[in-house]
Amino acid sequence: MELTLMKNAIKVMFLGFLLCSVMELQAQTANYDVIPQPQQVQLKGGPAFELTASTVIAYPDGNELMRRNAEFLREYIQKNTGLKLGLTTNPMRMNCINLSLNTSLKTGEEGYMLVVDDRGISLMAAAENGIFYGIQTLRKSLPIVRDAAQVVLPAVQITDAPRFGYRGIHLDVSRHFFDVDVVKQAIDMLALHNQNTFHWHLTDDQGWRVEIKRYPELTRYGSIRQRTVIGHNTPIYDNTPSGGYYTQAEMREVVEYAKERYITVIPEIDMPGHMMAVLACFPELGCTGGPYHVAEEWGIADDILCAGNEETFTFVENVLSELTEIFPSTYIHIGGDEAPRVRWQNCPKCQARIRQLGLTKDDEHSAEDKLQSYFMTRVEKFLNSKGRQIIGWDEILDGDPSPTATVMSWRGTAGGIKAAKAGHDVIMSPTTYAYLDYYQSDKTNREPLAIGGYLPVEKVYELDPMDQLSGDEQKHIIGVQANLWTEYIAHPEHLQYMYMPRVAAIAEVQWCQPANRNYDKFLAKLPKLVDVYQLLGWKYARHALPADYDHHDRSSLW
Ligand code: ACM
Ligand code: ZN
Repeated sequence: MELTLMKNAIKVMFLGFLLCSVMELQAQTANYDVIPQPQQVQLKGGPAFELTASTVIAYPDGNELMRRNAEFLREYIQKNTGLKLGLTTNPMRMNCINLSLNTSLKTGEEGYMLVVDDRGISLMAAAENGIFYGIQTLRKSLPIVRDAAQVVLPAVQITDAPRFGYRGIHLDVSRHFFDVDVVKQAIDMLALHNQNTFHWHLTDDQGWRVEIKRYPELTRYGSIRQRTVIGHNTPIYDNTPSGGYYTQAEMREVVEYAKERYITVIPEIDMPGHMMAVLACFPELGCTGGPYHVAEEWGIADDILCAGNEETFTFVENVLSELTEIFPSTYIHIGGDEAPRVRWQNCPKCQARIRQLGLTKDDEHSAEDKLQSYFMTRVEKFLNSKGRQIIGWDEILDGDPSPTATVMSWRGTAGGIKAAKAGHDVIMSPTTYAYLDYYQSDKTNREPLAIGGYLPVEKVYELDPMDQLSGDEQKHIIGVQANLWTEYIAHPEHLQYMYMPRVAAIAEVQWCQPANRNYDKFLAKLPKLVDVYQLLGWKYARHALPADYDHHDRSSLW
């Protein structure tokens, strides 16, 4: 009897040991269910590859970008698994992750092909950025295990390419300033989600954040607001000055950091509205002459740049001249949103300009609308002369916008649809699907204060940027972007919480062909991506995660 008991106990122990080993092995096996979903994932069923510390990463000799790609991969593998791989420029037939360029590959500039078999891993692309996205896929496929001796990668062939060439995420650093380290971390987040454009909203009524050497006043005074209203424009203020700006060297550093990750930084100087910080420094650029101060409340100010004053254009051109020296992006965003007409209606200089230009109201647009078109087009021509293109918010459609202006559709998708039909290039960024400052739960009392709205992960996922557009018109939709305005976001962790995981949902809108998008599958893949957030110590919202998801970090308030 006793012997039987003992035998049973041994059996149970053995089974338990077996189960643990299987679980361990599973934990150490790669899984290609990544976000954004690759175009084609064909599991081969053949023998798997065993990644160990003796595996090497090979890259083409003499290619700096590929060397950097190899370094990223090495960092990611070490972070995920603890395995420290060597780099080489001599690809080996066995036990090697070979990164190589192949211009005959038909996956487009940003696409890649990833092949895993028992001999090794081959990652090919027509260009270095394609390799980078292949590396992101590989990184997200790896298990997260501490000090693995080996990681098993099932044999697979992945062929992938993005749907849209413009995959943007925006950050407002005017309403609250975030230092360079936080901005770099945001760029790391974009890289993880295969985004390639960082729209940096650098100036607004509540603070100017760009060092302009010609106008030191802009950062000396324009970057500081004396106090900030509490909540949704209550009568209470914090009575604490708030400021911050980036030196030109810091902005160059951010541009370089982003470039290494194949991310273009598009700076925005919002004009002619949202300019209180400038008017506070240069009241002569406003229609009434002031006095003005850096805004302490949220909303839309009536005071905007005077379009009748030549000095305004001199100022704008001088600022943009320095800006284009810092930012090499083809696109410069010049705002154009929320510019009330009331000052222009009552300003002798603006009215004289309207007469001089012969601008008249018609059924759709006022003379002042057309004055804004004049303003934006004049600035566009200046930037064109420097080899740049403009992006403007969809208000630039009011009047006679230049057909070469790219429109960022934010007041829903209607502006974007209208713009695409009129032949503009368009970036879809509608409040209804892509405003990450909105609440992500309807239980708002359990959330940090937000501007309002309700934008859960599922809704972000539903964005159809081609809705209501014919084939030819669809060609004008160059991409999709999600925006984060920061009136109510003062801390980096809160910023992360508002981004993640909604940037993952927008990533599938940006990257995946519609047939390759499936919300249930996305939800099933999400925990694995959130494991990476945890690994990197990033805050995220939990609403879309399964109730039993194991949050290692329970310190979050939300
Ligand atoms: C915007 O949200 N005002 C572009
Ligand atoms: Zn004026």
